[in-house]
Amino acid sequence: MYKIVKKETLNSVVELMEIHAPFVARKCEPGQFIILRVDEDGERVPLTIADYDREKETVTIIYQILGYSTTLLSQKKEGEYLADFVGPLGVPASLEKRENKVIGVAGGVGAAPLYPQLRKLAENGTKVDVIIGGKSKEYVLWADKFREFCENVYIATDDGSEGTKGFVTTVLQDLLDKGEVYDECIAIGPLIMMKNVVNVTKPADLHTMVSLNPIMIDGTGMCGGCRVTIGGETKFACVDGPDFDGFLVDFDECMKRQGMFKEEEHECKMMALG
Ligand code: FES
Repeated sequence: MYKIVKKETLNSVVELMEIHAPFVARKCEPGQFIILRVDEDGERVPLTIADYDREKETVTIIYQILGYSTTLLSQKKEGEYLADFVGPLGVPASLEKRENKVIGVAGGVGAAPLYPQLRKLAENGTKVDVIIGGKSKEYVLWADKFREFCENVYIATDDGSEGTKGFVTTVLQDLLDKGEVYDECIAIGPLIMMKNVVNVTKPADLHTMVSLNPIMIDGTGMCGGCRVTIGGETKFACVDGPDFDGFLVDFDECMKRQGMFKEEEHECKMMALG
């Protein structure tokens, strides 16, 4: 059993939990994920690690209350326990020092998995900028935490309540048009956002990594649930990813597969809410 040592509400649909998970906290690296189960009968929820503290032996996760399992998770309180917390899974992101700068692009809860990646790059001596996007000010996550090590923190909101009115891609295109030089872009957020980022970075030949979080079941490469097509080849996000070269990802196929279970998920969420 894994104790919830801290729970925090970040906005009306996003929450943070710090879980006491000594093994995961000792081994995990940015880019990796865990699979949790709220209770013995619960379905497996894959979540990319947002932070970790090796001394406190805790792992931080951030989730959006979207479907049945995240609704159940959100009903858990500080001091209570999760049945399972398995990891670290997946391949750590490659974050050695780069010559110039790296730009991170986060949409919504994508800021959580992006945070440890950019922090590690900064620790390794790479300059980093970040663009954080959200529907409105309330949905822009962790801007202050990014400010601790990023040279520039750009914000984009759909309604203009903070930063640039528009999408993260509006800001990214602007920076590239102004002649900013980056070695790499790391984009994490909704599939449609990552696809649109690639549409901006590809013509500029700016190498772009994206993080895929498809439906996962076993997390060990056995069930095939998380298969994605990368450069025409079938890969499993749980063992080959979750980070992939954005230029090679078949985003349309990913979006189709993600949409397959929307209706069932909605019905289950209604059940969880009683
Ligand atoms: Fe089963 Fe990846 S989750 S193969």
